[in-house]
Amino acid sequence: MSAFLEEFLRNPATVGSLVPSSPELTEKVVAPIDFSSARCIVEYGPGTGVFTDVLMQRRQPETHIVLIEVNRRFCQHLQERYASHAHVHVIHGSADKTGEYLQQLSIPPADYVVCGLPFSSLPRRLRWRILEHTRQVLQPAGKLILFQYSLRNKRLFERFFRMLSTAHVLRNIPPAYVLVYAPERAAAE
Ligand SMILES: C[S@@+](CC[C@H](N)C(=O)[O-])C[C@H]1O[C@@H](n2cnc3c(N)ncnc32)[C@H](O)[C@@H]1O
Repeated sequence: MSAFLEEFLRNPATVGSLVPSSPELTEKVVAPIDFSSARCIVEYGPGTGVFTDVLMQRRQPETHIVLIEVNRRFCQHLQERYASHAHVHVIHGSADKTGEYLQQLSIPPADYVVCGLPFSSLPRRLRWRILEHTRQVLQPAGKLILFQYSLRNKRLFERFFRMLSTAHVLRNIPPAYVLVYAPERAAAE
């Protein structure tokens, strides 16, 4: 059995899927990133690193990659795989503490936050904290890139962010949406 499936069976709510994201979904997720200018890319919930591999291949050597993963086993795997690379920071922690982590590392605010979290199965308060935090750690011209298996949290995202684009990727298990946001507050409800 794969490590991913084992961890899903242990922690279904936090892992959120049976298998890692597909190459097609990965391409859609990284497509909005301007790798030539990004100084800091934060990834929430990298899991086994399918997005991370592409971020690592395409980043400029001086671009910081900050990986925040709550699952101990995935985190160990990420450490083994990436921690020896310059400007890669593997953090065993939770996405709602990103501001603290960036401060401790003395890293500039994020140009991009790539979010692979299973929002629908996370506790409601945590979802709010993560979104609030993300808005604070992004550069004003930065972008939040999320993938989701449904659009049921779209209204929640739009409380914190302005939608830039959405795409549906069928070649993934399950099919997923890629949502791209700018860090401005939507009109007050
Ligand atoms: C759906 S998997 C995505 C994994 C990988 N990005 C991919 O696309 O294959 C969700 C990941 O988010 C992690 N996760 C869940 N809650 C988290 C949190 N609060 N902070 C950081 N990572 C979290 C899980 O451990 C898991 O690795």
